[in-house]
Amino acid sequence: MTVTIKTADEQDKMRIAGRLAADVLDMIGDYVKPGVSTGELDRICHEYITEVQGAIPAPLNYRGFPKSICTSVNHVVCHGIPGDRRLKAGDAVNIDITVIKDGFHGDTSRMFFAGKPGIQAQRLAEVAFESMWLGIGELAPGKHLGDVGAAIQHHVEKNRFSVVREYCGHGIGRVFHEDPQVLHYGSPGTGMELRAGMTLTVEPMVNAGKAAVKLLPDGWTVVTKDHSLSAQWEHTVLVTETGHEVLTLGADAR
Ligand code: MF3
Ligand code: CO
Ligand code: CO
Repeated sequence: MTVTIKTADEQDKMRIAGRLAADVLDMIGDYVKPGVSTGELDRICHEYITEVQGAIPAPLNYRGFPKSICTSVNHVVCHGIPGDRRLKAGDAVNIDITVIKDGFHGDTSRMFFAGKPGIQAQRLAEVAFESMWLGIGELAPGKHLGDVGAAIQHHVEKNRFSVVREYCGHGIGRVFHEDPQVLHYGSPGTGMELRAGMTLTVEPMVNAGKAAVKLLPDGWTVVTKDHSLSAQWEHTVLVTETGHEVLTLGADAR
């Protein structure tokens, strides 16, 4: 597959899809409390996306994924399947929302805490958040994908955490996962050169321990091999003539 450059009209549609995905995260935050199950969070998001937004939850049936959102708790790195698990005080959960509106995808995730997080979980989420923004800061015409990965990797490793290698950001548009792959590690000046009109996600997964991950037998849930905590944040971003525009900002501009 080749990299798509979005027209002005397509960029408008990406803005709308991005806004809707961010709105779902803004909505669900209040429900993340000790005692709530991840399946309940899924149901609330599903109803909001389909009934309030008139949009489609992209994960549902995507390559056989059974639910409408991903919920990745504590040592789950990504693609956690919502179910009967109830959050306990201190649990950290990444909620990853992708909606399709008018044929275009918006993809974004944030960390949430049920009750008060532990100091390490909080610090990990903070460093992952900062690294995502440092990566986004590299997005501009003439820059390279390696600049994005290097900025993220440098910040994470400076803080003695590790970057997951097996999963990456991606181009996004009419297709959920388009080219190019956006690695969260790398060397400055290497990789594809960026052009205005590209839409990409930046979504670093950061582990408190080693970078290694393993896939559970359900075929989806990815966990840290050493059972250390993992954190992730994600935005969908448009490369513009002058730099970039984040399409999935929340109400508090995060
Ligand atoms: N939203 C995830 C991403 O950021 C992909 C989830 S695929 C699913 O790319 F099937 F697990 F939903
Ligand atoms: Co994504
Ligand atoms: Co996502």
